[in-house]
Amino acid sequence: MSRLLVTGGAGFIGSNFVHHVMEHSDDEVVVLDKMTYAGNAASLEGLPESRFTFVRGDICDRELVDRLVSGVDAVVHFAAESHNDNSLANPEPFITTNLYGTFALLEAVRKHDVRYHHISTDEVYGDLELDDPEKFHETTPYKPSSPYSASKAGSDLLVRAWARSFGVRATLSNCSNNYGPRQHVEKFIPRQITNVIDGIRPKLYGQGLNVRDWIHVDDHNAAVLLILERGEIGQTYLIGANGEQDNKTVIEKILTLMGQPADAYDHVNDRPGHDMRYAIDASRLREELGWEPTYKDFDAGLAATVEWYRANEGWWRPQKAAVEAKYAAQGQ
Ligand code: NAD
Ligand code: DAU
Repeated sequence: MSRLLVTGGAGFIGSNFVHHVMEHSDDEVVVLDKMTYAGNAASLEGLPESRFTFVRGDICDRELVDRLVSGVDAVVHFAAESHNDNSLANPEPFITTNLYGTFALLEAVRKHDVRYHHISTDEVYGDLELDDPEKFHETTPYKPSSPYSASKAGSDLLVRAWARSFGVRATLSNCSNNYGPRQHVEKFIPRQITNVIDGIRPKLYGQGLNVRDWIHVDDHNAAVLLILERGEIGQTYLIGANGEQDNKTVIEKILTLMGQPADAYDHVNDRPGHDMRYAIDASRLREELGWEPTYKDFDAGLAATVEWYRANEGWWRPQKAAVEAKYAAQGQ
């Protein structure tokens, strides 16, 4: 049994990770979360009090981070500013949280010799052409496009430097686009599902030819727990489930699943610098650690996600109007 510090545990992937750990291990969890607009206390309801503690605070608070890290066996670092569109509107919090926050955690794990796992994204590799036969792999050069992905790329490089120069016991993972329960309604799939529930037409950026490599959040988190327990120190693992879909197809699937005509959506302003395609080669994870995704059928996973948003309106309703107002102001 270990004691884990999970940063960003009130966000989408972090909260699902905490539930996953409770179900699949005996570990105790301390969540550190600033509760920005993206943190949701309801995502952590019902966890066993004997194994779960919540601390509201900022990963940039060196004193707090030092104290919390001194009392755990490992840190799993999810906390971040995570939305590309927000990073285009105001990059500053992305630099502060994603870079300085990671630095603060690295200094604390270095001081207390605590195992560290760093959660990152496939966006650090930039994008692929639609017809490129290559996928991203562990040695693909970094070429981030947005302030968000650049800040994540920088944080990955900090981790590698602290591992090499100071011997920090770190692993990294770079995952593709997650979907599933408890994802903020600013993100593509929940935005469209909740739009349809509200009688608003879904919004497709540009022509919607952009491809994302979708993975269910539970499959991402199963991989993270496996890497934490059995990953090779110093190693990077790419996480992806061969889930490539273009955005237009995803919107049409959502509309069809929800009983609407497949073409009942609007084209809106494209995202500046919009990455065309992401695709992950997860061979190392599969071959070295024996990981396999459970959600192999995207349509079935999407249908379950639609049902989750239908059944949990109280979870997302408080954020919906403000998110749509912000997008409307950008012509999106
Ligand atoms: P999210 O935006 O849903 O959640 C982020 C959480 O971090 C929130 O609870 C927020 O309150 C917290 N947070 C933000 N700034 C903080 C700070 N300074 N101190 C403490 N807590 C802070 O994000 P997500 O989609 O769950 O992403 C989690 C991690 O996974 C991020 O590092 C992201 O880069 C990475 N990632 C996301 C995806 C994806 O598809 N969503 C894919 C690959 C990697
Ligand atoms: O690839 C991993 C990344 O996936 C993570 O690192 C990020 O944290 C996460 O937000 C996600 O980034 P994307 O920018 O790919 O996700 P988003 O949900 O914002 O958009 C997915 C695609 O859908 C993208 O091509 C933009 C498009 N889109 C998005 C919105 C919100 C639309 O067409 N319409 C929309 O309304």
